[in-house]
Amino acid sequence: MLELSRPTILMCPPDFYGIEYEINPWMSRSVPNDAVKSREQWQALHDLLVSLGVDVQLMEPVKGLPDLVFTANAGLIWHDKVFLAAFRHTARQGETPVDAGWFQSAGFETISLPSSLNFEGAGDALFCGDTLFAGYFVRSDASAMQWLGAHMNCRVLPLQLVDHHFYHLDTCFCPLDTQTALYFPPAFDDYARRALSHIPHLIPVQPEEAARFACNAVVVGHDVVMNTGCPQLEADLIKHGFTPHSTPLDEFLKAGGSAKCLTLRLDGEEAAVWP
Ligand code: ARG
Repeated sequence: MLELSRPTILMCPPDFYGIEYEINPWMSRSVPNDAVKSREQWQALHDLLVSLGVDVQLMEPVKGLPDLVFTANAGLIWHDKVFLAAFRHTARQGETPVDAGWFQSAGFETISLPSSLNFEGAGDALFCGDTLFAGYFVRSDASAMQWLGAHMNCRVLPLQLVDHHFYHLDTCFCPLDTQTALYFPPAFDDYARRALSHIPHLIPVQPEEAARFACNAVVVGHDVVMNTGCPQLEADLIKHGFTPHSTPLDEFLKAGGSAKCLTLRLDGEEAAVWP
């Protein structure tokens, strides 16, 4: 098994990243990414995480799988196990065998959900404390989340996502520690907003900054890494005792992703208390 003595994150270089299909409202084949800039931005994110003490593990990119860079969707890590994704769109389904191979060679036990269920990994399933907050409707199924809760024997709070611009939970919600989370209120229905209010400290994100994927942040200790152009959130983070670090990720916004989507924490998220 991979040594997990410090924060460890899985990333995949953007060699074959591109806007080759349209499966969310941010993607348009008529607005392609710039390959050189994509590489620079990805590398800067990688180097920033390394400078914060993260052990970054790399997955080999694969031609024909342009969204493989978004490792957050590969699965949900739980101890030495990973619940593999079952993607909603056929365009991404080829990623799962590649992800499964990587996890197995790193020593994780891979678990597949029943074949009728869609589930998009850490993109839609985030622990805050011992509770799994679970986004559903656009990509993952609510019943997939209940299946996970039964397997991990934990409380699951399903949150319906109501705005297709915020199609994965990690685009509108980010646990910072067991008591604190960022969220973009209009991405949720009333019931979900009530469920979220169980978290003692909720920091709302403004619409302009939510559209810069402010909620799609990577948390390492008290350091929070995110896209540029979110000054209000940076100020709020400082007020709550966190240290913001911004790095430009516009090339990845074109596919509907940012810092968090490009990473998968392998040793457990900061905010997670695993059952
Ligand atoms: N183009 C990808 C998709 O639509 C982006 C995935 C972003 N990942 C995330 N965890 N939000 O599936």
